Amino acid sequence: MIRDVATTPFDDQKPGTSGLRKKTAAFMVPRYVENFVQAIFDAEPGLAGGTLVVGGDGRYFNREAIQTTIRLAAGAGVARVLVGKGGILSTPAASCVIRARGAKGGVILSASHNPGGPDGDFGIKFNGANGGPAPEKVTDAIHARTKSIARYRISDAPDVDLDAIGETRVEGMTVEVIDPVEDYLALMGRLFDFAAIRALFASGFTMRFDAMHAVTGPYAKAILERTLGAPAGTVVNAVPLPDFGGGHPDPNLTHAKELADLMASDKSPDFGAASDGDGDRNMVIGRGQFVTPSDSLAILAANATLAPGYAKGIAGVARSMPTSAAADRVAAALGVPSYETPTGWKFFGNLLDAGLATLCGEESFGTGSDHVREKDGLWAVLFWLNVLARERVPVKRLVAAHWARYGRNYYTRHDYEEIDAAPAKAMMADLAARLATLPGTTLAGMKVEAADDFAYHDPVDGSDSKGQGLRVMFEGGARIVYRLSGTGTAGATLRVYVERYVAPGGDLHRDAQEALADLIAVARDLAGIAARTGRTTPDVVT
Ligand code: G1P
Ligand code: ZN
Repeated sequence: MIRDVATTPFDDQKPGTSGLRKKTAAFMVPRYVENFVQAIFDAEPGLAGGTLVVGGDGRYFNREAIQTTIRLAAGAGVARVLVGKGGILSTPAASCVIRARGAKGGVILSASHNPGGPDGDFGIKFNGANGGPAPEKVTDAIHARTKSIARYRISDAPDVDLDAIGETRVEGMTVEVIDPVEDYLALMGRLFDFAAIRALFASGFTMRFDAMHAVTGPYAKAILERTLGAPAGTVVNAVPLPDFGGGHPDPNLTHAKELADLMASDKSPDFGAASDGDGDRNMVIGRGQFVTPSDSLAILAANATLAPGYAKGIAGVARSMPTSAAADRVAAALGVPSYETPTGWKFFGNLLDAGLATLCGEESFGTGSDHVREKDGLWAVLFWLNVLARERVPVKRLVAAHWARYGRNYYTRHDYEEIDAAPAKAMMADLAARLATLPGTTLAGMKVEAADDFAYHDPVDGSDSKGQGLRVMFEGGARIVYRLSGTGTAGATLRVYVERYVAPGGDLHRDAQEALADLIAVARDLAGIAARTGRTTPDVVT
């Protein structure tokens, strides 16, 4: 039976760029999930009568939130729910299923790379029919609804068995438990040269994929080991755990340290990779060669035609503003446009939908293409394997050859986490007010060419986004960028991005921290980070 239940609003249900993300305990408060998910159905009446995709990254409270979502979907008149077996769907796989099955949207349960568990984080995100995160006008409408919600409509049917593939009914609605990997695997098989990758593994090529006890384990096992013939054990930490094994499922040099150490040791396999909590981020690393996400985007763009899905060439490349300009140089050489967007995947959606860009990426270990509308960790790994299978050179040599041709954008990001929000905001405001005085001055022996607070005009929908990060740009392509994170759940996180371009023929093989040391010091002093935040060293350096 479907019941009408009276409720009162919660005042903290404003979805950000990655959905509603909070401490798990906040979501476990009675009516909290009900209110938010009902607000989605109220704001998107078109979901009634259609198909809805539901799944998550397997973190603590995933199954409970899914059962509640299914009951509310029945109350909202959804015709069919597709849910990943075990409640599992990686974020890119959810995007893929929405598109492949013509769904009207999807509800994804995840807090991405944030730790999970009763003391960790949880999140709910709504994606639209194009498979991408809901645009701001939709999240605004959902938020507005959470403020006025007075009732939700929910079925009192028992839990659906999420572990048995097949169809059941909840009220008048069909619930189909699907294999979370199948559609995604089929899509990857169309994009990449699986025969070449199979031959690469058959030749003795070795790899380690660290799934970090998060959602990509089942995907990586099915694709790398069972389909492409990588030896059993290639995928490690492959079982998704509710608390990710106590780890922080964020693939970078700090949180995937074990993998990074292995790749620097004499036991290193040929190739290493890792993905995050919900499977949209990736880190790729060769023997003795970490590949920055900015370089990875550039290298994939330069080699895209080696993959069958991109054999006809790419329409353009898009990168978030703080991402290094390495991809711009490839785009220029290919004669295709490059786009610089604000941080956050949602800004790529319009460019991809309009066919203006084919590949896109962020420095924050996010890479993707127009095959789905989310960044896609395993896709990036398969793309690299495709390139390596066709080129048959070590990662280190491929990277060196890229720099020798295009030059190198030395790059680093320094994060100061959980600092007090008020002084952090004041520091940013003060710096913003001083930006206009910088052009023409010389810092670290380099002339400042321009400085601004980044604003973006969307060429597709004409919208403007302001206040997207403070940029100090030097002659010769060096940059310092300051941003406050929009995804943290405690205090403020300051991100400082530092970049310097060295042209072909210059010294291309230095340590990045060393090559950027003078600019890093300028970045610290210019904003007065130590004085304003009390921090003298960053928490995470990537
Ligand atoms: C971070 C990354 C950004 C990414 C987002 C979601 O956001 O910097 O590139 O799109 O996570 O994965 P931030 O915390 O910096 O706002
Ligand atoms: Zn993620």
